[in-house]
Amino acid sequence: MTYSTKKEEAEKIASEINAELVLHLDVRDRLKIRQVFKEVANSCGAINVLVNNAGINRPADFDKQTDEEWDEVIDVDLSGVFRCCQEVLPYIVDNGRIINIGSLSGEYGGPRTPSYAVAKMGIMALTHNLARFLGERGICVNCLSPGVIANEFTEKTMAPDIKELVLFLSPLKRFAKVGEMVGAAIFLASDESSYLTAQTLSVNGGVWVR
Ligand SMILES: NC(=O)c1ccc[n+]([C@@H]2O[C@H](COP(=O)([O-])OP(=O)(O)OC[C@H]3O[C@@H](n4cnc5c(N)ncnc54)[C@H](O)[C@@H]3O)[C@@H](O)[C@H]2O)c1
Repeated sequence: MTYSTKKEEAEKIASEINAELVLHLDVRDRLKIRQVFKEVANSCGAINVLVNNAGINRPADFDKQTDEEWDEVIDVDLSGVFRCCQEVLPYIVDNGRIINIGSLSGEYGGPRTPSYAVAKMGIMALTHNLARFLGERGICVNCLSPGVIANEFTEKTMAPDIKELVLFLSPLKRFAKVGEMVGAAIFLASDESSYLTAQTLSVNGGVWVR
């Protein structure tokens, strides 16, 4: 399986898996989200699963994080999830699924990423809140919280000493491959997880702060 964040490659993958629709979406733009979800629902009949995956990081020590960086990360990583969850409500089916992508950073207030850690911890609270709101419709809302994945995102945003720290804390002594998130995502999207809601599923190779 191939993974990419590049538009052309995303379109290539979409064609490989015969995706019906490939639409561009900026999670900062509520009207665009509304338009895209409407288009998806019109085309597919309804929406069964929403995965809130968009995320950015602007690493900085707490005393160096600027207002701009703070606002940017909260806007995309937390408010973006809030907006998408609200806008999917008219279209998501009963017994549907919402999967919010969190982060190990949000579970332990990750060092050097104050805005990111707060946004991702916020996602965990939002997940609980929304799971309660949607429970009567049988819609399960969960957070999939990856540890460190060996990809470009990590290369660009993680300091070498933090990488070493995570490796030290991991019983598996390695970072995740992107594909190692897939099983958990499929499980959370499937009927096999029909009694699992308001949870954070940590796919982090056993990393925890000791
Ligand atoms: N890479 C890791 O180690 C790691 C660890 C924990 C959590 N995560 C989370 O996993 C998710 C995916 O990250 P990734 O590692 O694949 O990195 P990535 O940079 O490849 O993916 C992030 C995606 O978010 C999209 N995005 C950014 N701003 C957006 C916006 N305003 N509107 C819509 N889309 C936007 C980007 O285009 C990109 O496709 C993110 O939420 C990230 O926080 C990643």
